[in-house]
Amino acid sequence: MLVAPSVLSADFGNLQRDVEAICEAGCDFVHVDVMDGHFVPNLTIGPVVVSAIAKCATKPLDIHLMVENNSFFVDLFAPLNPEYISFHIEEEKHPHRLVQKIRSLGIKPAIVLNPHTPPEAIEFLLEDVDMVLLMSVNPGFGGQKFITSVIEKAKRLKALINKRNPSCLIEVDGGVNDKNIKELKEAGVDVVVAGSFVYKHPNGVKEAISSLKV
Ligand code: DX5
Ligand code: ZN
Repeated sequence: MLVAPSVLSADFGNLQRDVEAICEAGCDFVHVDVMDGHFVPNLTIGPVVVSAIAKCATKPLDIHLMVENNSFFVDLFAPLNPEYISFHIEEEKHPHRLVQKIRSLGIKPAIVLNPHTPPEAIEFLLEDVDMVLLMSVNPGFGGQKFITSVIEKAKRLKALINKRNPSCLIEVDGGVNDKNIKELKEAGVDVVVAGSFVYKHPNGVKEAISSLKV
C-alpha cells in the first residue's frame, strides 16, 4: 500500500517540520488539500503555502483540488511540478479536456469521486487517467468518519479498471486508519490518504505510516 499523508492535519505553525517528518518517515506522496470555500465549505491553502510545502517535501506532491473552476487552479499549481493533480468529476463539465491539459503540463491526471458518485460515471475516462481517488468522507474536513460503502465501490471500480486501463491506481481519502486498511487493500486500493490518523497518532508519524503499509 502506498501512503499519502494529508498535511491538512499538520501543525501549520510548524509546517516545514511536519512535512519533513512524513517524508523522513517513508511516506510515498505528500497529499495537499486545496479547498476554495465554494465547492466545499472550507478554505485551505493556495500557491504561496503549497510552494513552501513543495520546497521542503522530499516526496512527490499529490494535489487534491476541491474547487470550482478547476482549470484556473491547475494553472496555479502546475509550476510546482506535482506528481498528480486530481479534480472532482462532480465539478467538471469537460473532464477529458482538463485531463488532456493536466497531462500536457507533464503532470499525472487523477479524477476524484464523492462518496455518492458511482464508479460507472467515469468508465469512459479511465483510459485517460493515472489514478482515481474515491472519497470515503464528504470532502471539506479532516477527522471525519469513514463511509464503509467505499469498499464495495473500490471493488466495482477495480473491475472497470481491469477492463479499461489496468495501470490506473485507486486511491481512497477520508477516515483511513489501521482498522480499515486491510479491507481497503483487499478491495484493490493502491494508495491511501490519511490526515488525522498520521498526525495525531500517539506514537508519532513513523509508526502511523508503517501501520498503513500493508
Ligand atoms: C477531506 C480531505 C482529506 C482529509 C483526510 O476533504 O480530502 O484529504 O485531510 O483527513 P482524515 O484522514 O483525517 O479523514
Ligand atoms: Zn484529500
